[in-house]
Amino acid sequence: MSDPFEATSPVLESDTLTLRALRSDDAPSVFAYASDPEVARYTLWPPHGSEEQTRSFLKMLTGPDILSWAILPRGGERLEGIVFLHSLSRHHRRAELAFNVARGRWGRGIATEAARLVLRYSFEHYGLNRVEATCMPGNAASRRVLEKLGMAREGRLRRSHLRHDGFHDMDLFSILREEAGG
Ligand SMILES: CC(C)(COP(=O)(O)OP(=O)(O)OC[C@H]1O[C@@H](n2cnc3c(N)ncnc32)[C@H](O)[C@@H]1OP(=O)(O)O)[C@@H](O)C(=O)NCCC(=O)NCCS
Repeated sequence: MSDPFEATSPVLESDTLTLRALRSDDAPSVFAYASDPEVARYTLWPPHGSEEQTRSFLKMLTGPDILSWAILPRGGERLEGIVFLHSLSRHHRRAELAFNVARGRWGRGIATEAARLVLRYSFEHYGLNRVEATCMPGNAASRRVLEKLGMAREGRLRRSHLRHDGFHDMDLFSILREEAGG
């Protein structure tokens, strides 16, 4: 069992996707979609206004206590989105899952497949007991992804997250180790 606090993000593969560690030189590809207001509609960050902003975002995502992956077509180079585990708690063996995908690639099962790879790896190799995820109540696509992953909705966190336009409610989902069999 490896310690997620010491780990780097390993390469993970499904039939259709390759996940590899996110890198600072992914900034142009991430900026290309994170600058899209539709992508940022339900995220905690506003649409990226410059590649500099994307570089800061990637610095945070590749820093301590976060495990982040770039999502690529299997064997390909074109970044289609990102998936990451944050808010890792060593004591509680818990983490929070998050993802986003470039708008032109929505609706192909990419977020679900990428998140499934990360969940499976995390339960098997990091000894996590519980993975959480939150999404804004209006974010039907994200909610659907979390449901497809087998995550249970536990309730609504009232005005729990602050972003550029004020406080927002968040729906809290989770999946436990024993539920993440397949
Ligand atoms: C949420 C997001 C990551 C989903 O990525 P994706 O690769 O398109 O997801 P998938 O294709 O795996 O699954 C999407 C599901 O949502 C469904 N869906 C999409 N839009 C929907 C809507 N408006 N209402 C209901 N369901 C919707 C799709 O039909 C699909 O479900 P299905 O397989 O049962 O048909 C992507 O929309 C995104 O990046 N959004 C912007 C960033 C974001 O909100 N990230 C999450 C923050 S919590």
